Amino acid sequence: MTYLQPVIGNLQVVAPPLWKDYELLDSGDGQKFERFGEYYLVRPESQAIWTPALAAGEWERADARFQRSKSEDGPGQWHLRRPLPDSWPMHYHNLSFWARLTPFKHTGVFPEHSAQWEWIRQQLTRLSPQPNVLVLFGYTGLSSLWAAQVGARVSHVDASKPAVRWAQENQQASHLLDASIRWFVDDVGKFVAREFRRGSRYDLILLDPPVFGRGPKGEIWRLTEQLPALMAQCVALLSDDACGLLLSAYATNVSALTLANVLADSLHGRGGEITAGELVLQPFAAANPPGSALRALVSLVNNSHQPALVGFVNSSCTLKCVGVRRNTISWRSKNSSARNRILTSARSGTSTTARPR
Ligand SMILES: C[S@@+](CC[C@H](N)C(=O)[O-])C[C@H]1O[C@@H](n2cnc3c(N)ncnc32)[C@H](O)[C@@H]1O
Repeated sequence: MTYLQPVIGNLQVVAPPLWKDYELLDSGDGQKFERFGEYYLVRPESQAIWTPALAAGEWERADARFQRSKSEDGPGQWHLRRPLPDSWPMHYHNLSFWARLTPFKHTGVFPEHSAQWEWIRQQLTRLSPQPNVLVLFGYTGLSSLWAAQVGARVSHVDASKPAVRWAQENQQASHLLDASIRWFVDDVGKFVAREFRRGSRYDLILLDPPVFGRGPKGEIWRLTEQLPALMAQCVALLSDDACGLLLSAYATNVSALTLANVLADSLHGRGGEITAGELVLQPFAAANPPGSALRALVSLVNNSHQPALVGFVNSSCTLKCVGVRRNTISWRSKNSSARNRILTSARSGTSTTARPR
């Protein structure tokens, strides 16, 4: 058997396409100002340590603001400027889903995930009818619904019954009740081990693990301790024709290249290509830049070892992308077992794809 070392390419900055129903309006002073459907929200964002571009008066328009109680990732409270419904509809392409204010500042929608959806669509439509897709830590199901509506047979796993119920409501809202989706309320580690014993194999695996979580029976999930083993198990679940594995994580102390290195370890022997990058949200004005701002983006992407600075300049103000993750970066060189570490501090997102050959 020939063992192939997967190739890790340059770091990329990856942003979602424009949404009609979501907009990042501004960020700074530890917060971000966003629109979800018709409602404007202000939420904490520890990465956004810069100065907001918009005047404070603009931020006052927010319908709701989230205020943390104690710890950075603990629960907090929403303060409403006007009454908001318990849930409200949002749309992206053919998908319809519900947004809600949750006690942990989330809304049930991570728009940055859509940065990978076109790639997922392309991969799945190339495969034979009904490829098998596994979605771990699936939350409210948007990536699962996306994969299902492009023809995949999806297994969705999440520890939280309410999250799976919410995902099923999204399935109904999207008119995908006939789509092939199996919903599992289970611990990811237990599920993956069981699937391996049963001989199940998947053509694409998507996972978005939190830093810390609990399975339905209190099983503890700690990303920095358990990710390597979980990735090895996921790689063992890939079919011979698998098109990829997509890993994203919101972890302020884990870099895109750290994740890429973990993935490279797990994929050792399969070859393929790994891309790693910073997953970011772009403010609307930066996503529609005049020429100069566009050049800023291009040079940033080319200068991929230094992704710490993400700035877009247009004629009236300076807007920044909000990094969805914060990273320290290390790099494993091709064809070498030695690791040359390039350390830099970056404040944004991470997304890793591997395409085994
Ligand atoms: C909110 S989502 C995606 C989170 C995102 N990456 C972040 O950190 O904000 C995390 C999901 O993982 C689920 N989860 C946490 N621990 C789990 C476990 N051990 N097994 C299965 N699902 C788990 C949670 O129920 C939740 O829906």
